[in-house]
Amino acid sequence: MSFTVPAKLEAEIDELISHYPQKRSASLMLLHAVQEHFGYISHDATEWIAKKLELQPINIYELVTFYPMFRQEPAGRHQIKVCRTLSCALGGSHKLHDHFCTKLGLDAHKHGLQTTPDGKFSVEFVECLAACGTAPVMMCNDDFHEGVTSQKADEILGGCK
Ligand code: FES
Repeated sequence: MSFTVPAKLEAEIDELISHYPQKRSASLMLLHAVQEHFGYISHDATEWIAKKLELQPINIYELVTFYPMFRQEPAGRHQIKVCRTLSCALGGSHKLHDHFCTKLGLDAHKHGLQTTPDGKFSVEFVECLAACGTAPVMMCNDDFHEGVTSQKADEILGGCK
């Protein structure tokens, strides 16, 4: 395995683990720390975390694949997540996703993560973001946006430096 964790990050991870009575309980915190540093959770990172917590890789892999906030591939600097669950689907999320894809030269028919060649933007559909009454809902990095029209979508893109 060629995966290397810088000493500073490993020290932070050891500190995180020390807060829990059982190492396994630190799994999500380690995933966040690794994703924040590397931008995504690679296969090697999954194995490294499992070894660190004295678990099997499947114990970490199942978390990475269950929680939508974890990525298994690099994303753009500005990550656009459009909710596609029922309320948002009825409220226009497919049109909104289509709008972003068209503006950024991406494939509107692809629901998974897509990144522009310059690495600036990623677009993907995600499941319910828990604001179903204000559909369509989306996130751009950590910013939450409700009732997003095409005009508002353009403003969001324009605000990404
Ligand atoms: S369905 Fe989109 S936020 Fe719940």
